Amino acid sequence: MVRTSARGRAETAEAATPEAVTEAFVQQLGHDPVGVWAAPGRVNLIGEHTDYNDGFVMPFALAEQVVVAAAPREDGRWGVRSLNRRQTVTFGPQDLVPGRVEGWAAYVAGVVWALAEAGHTVQGADLVLTSDVPVGAGLSSSAALECAVLTALVDLSGLEVAPLDRARIARRCENAYVGAPTGLLDQAASTLCEADNALFLDCRSADHRQVPLDLSSVGLELLVLDTKTPHSHVTSEYGDRRRTCDEAAKILGVAALRDVSLDDLDDALSRLPDDVMRRRVRHVVTEDARVLEAVEVADDGRLADLAPLLDASHTSMRDDFEITVPTVDLAVETARAAGAHGARMTGGGFGGCIIALVPVGSADEVGRAVAAAFDEAGYGAPAWFLGVPSAGARRLV
Ligand code: GLA
Repeated sequence: MVRTSARGRAETAEAATPEAVTEAFVQQLGHDPVGVWAAPGRVNLIGEHTDYNDGFVMPFALAEQVVVAAAPREDGRWGVRSLNRRQTVTFGPQDLVPGRVEGWAAYVAGVVWALAEAGHTVQGADLVLTSDVPVGAGLSSSAALECAVLTALVDLSGLEVAPLDRARIARRCENAYVGAPTGLLDQAASTLCEADNALFLDCRSADHRQVPLDLSSVGLELLVLDTKTPHSHVTSEYGDRRRTCDEAAKILGVAALRDVSLDDLDDALSRLPDDVMRRRVRHVVTEDARVLEAVEVADDGRLADLAPLLDASHTSMRDDFEITVPTVDLAVETARAAGAHGARMTGGGFGGCIIALVPVGSADEVGRAVAAAFDEAGYGAPAWFLGVPSAGARRLV
């Protein structure tokens, strides 16, 4: 894999390559794998916390990915080796019950369980995997794991599963086996994205299409900066936001907040009982509108016009949805002051990464400015790399 930046994370993480997993597979199992598969992490360009409100999202897949070497095994069980964790976990059909396999291997057992639940017969397999998607950074390392494993198992078992169904099955694993109440964004991005494009996804109809994202055509590149802020309470805060949105939709008499248009927003807000709920709704409704505008801007090739939309999205997440934290806000403000044209937090929130649209060649300079501001504020060092729109889940070898 081509590393896109010489700075930050790229210096510390080992690239996830087919060679690394193939070599480890042969060492561990004494024979060649049948193939090697990969699925990427993602950056969400815009459209945060809109997916579970039946709204719109616009992610792209990163070059950072999970790579899996795999081959069938005869005893009908699944053996999974994680090179990152230096652990092997084995499970059998009796473990295909939510909660039975825990930790990172739950994302593997959950995929087998979700495929079986969708009516597919999954054959036993040995899998050796590695990842260079930063974990806990809001870049969907877990969706990358689910989608890489799913792609490998679907091929090994000779199953016919349409791309969108793959994303839905991987999401089912996350929701019901692992127990995280997330929307379709991450698994759809990891499965459906194509190189050089962002994905425009309507999370209600699941209609989707590619949107060309050649930032260099307008002299820009996209910095991804990991604030390395631990996500404490992220699951409970996420669930809390979901509940408030669902409650608000009920009060407003709509199926989901997606059904409130910008024109109806003031009227809708006046019918809600408290200020917190009003601000949550305002974020979701304005964020959906920003995604639609971002798609229009990209379709017109006016990619520099994404900048004010990123900025407005960040303000909305900070003030209305209240999912940013001081490190993230400082990173965004510093990036802008250092020359970024627009910047926002990306992902579920409460830490993780920011993205910043910066002039070509200036990502490292902006990253260094944020590192200096973090140092001055007493925060730990951030890491950064260039976000390059890359391919979704696929077979590599
Ligand atoms: C997490 C979830 C997604 C989505 C985002 C917020 O990444 O997994 O489903 O809700 O947060 O946009």
